[in-house]
Amino acid sequence: MKDFLAVGDYTPEALQDMLDLAIELKQEYKTKGSNSPVLKDKKLGMIFQKPSLRTRVSFERGMEHLGGSAMYIGPAEIGLGKRESIADVARVMSGYVDAIMARVFDHQHVLELAKWSSVPVINGLSDYNHPCQAMADILTILEEFGTLKGINVTYVGDGNNVSLSLMHVCAKLGAHFTIANPPGFGMPDSGIAVAQEFAAKSGSQIRLLTDPHEAVAGADVIYTDTWTSMGQEEEATKREVVFPPYQVNQKLVSEASPRVIVLHCLPAHRNHEITDEVADGPHSRLFPQAHNRMHAQKAILVRLMAG
Ligand code: CP
Ligand code: NVA
Repeated sequence: MKDFLAVGDYTPEALQDMLDLAIELKQEYKTKGSNSPVLKDKKLGMIFQKPSLRTRVSFERGMEHLGGSAMYIGPAEIGLGKRESIADVARVMSGYVDAIMARVFDHQHVLELAKWSSVPVINGLSDYNHPCQAMADILTILEEFGTLKGINVTYVGDGNNVSLSLMHVCAKLGAHFTIANPPGFGMPDSGIAVAQEFAAKSGSQIRLLTDPHEAVAGADVIYTDTWTSMGQEEEATKREVVFPPYQVNQKLVSEASPRVIVLHCLPAHRNHEITDEVADGPHSRLFPQAHNRMHAQKAILVRLMAG
């Protein structure tokens, strides 16, 4: 596999291999303060059409840990598909860097980059999915419970890029996945159909609900994300009216399994989709989850770029 564009492109075995490697690299980094320089002299070019904290910094540090380096190219540069065609950008970049990470608006744009690039392309979030986030999420769940089989993961909120990749990784690896979203704010049917195919093979159960209380009963993981994703800003006022019943607050958390952990990809809009009490409370794993971005992505980088 040349690229990392969607978790669904990988077999469960390949995903598990990357998770095992992420755990190994995390352990190695913790004990030695560094990793073996398997990406020595390699350069990751990072194209951002949208802002970022975690994706930018975790990839940059991850490359440094592995002996390589990363180059940040911000939204004001390149003009992907506007100043220059995506096919041309991909072919030019391929001569300068050893892999490309791209955060885009339109999912087709990251697919197009991958099509024309001769070096690996990593999807750092599109309007459709966020596969690097899903790898960090599932690593965090695995670390907490020691297994994914039979774990109940419940996402409460908008059916967006983050929930889609989370659903796909759960369906691939055998965790049960439930979403509760307001009517009309669910995930695309095509993405759900694919998840159901994965689930039929892994034994995962997928539930698509609109009642957050029904959804969190028995949940081992409650996950939420912003009600308004980057690029949807003009819908923010409407969304602030529809989404408050889907807030992850102490009452909702108390309806889940006593061992429940709470996740959020961040950035959090505190006291909108998640209360301070929950984000900073005993069930929260928000910051270990954010830190796991770096470890999960190092495994992806090694698998795509080493050797
Ligand atoms: N979760 C995530 O992707 O964060 P950034 O937008 O800060 O990269
Ligand atoms: N769904 C959010 C995730 C941010 C990391 C967005 O696309 O803005």
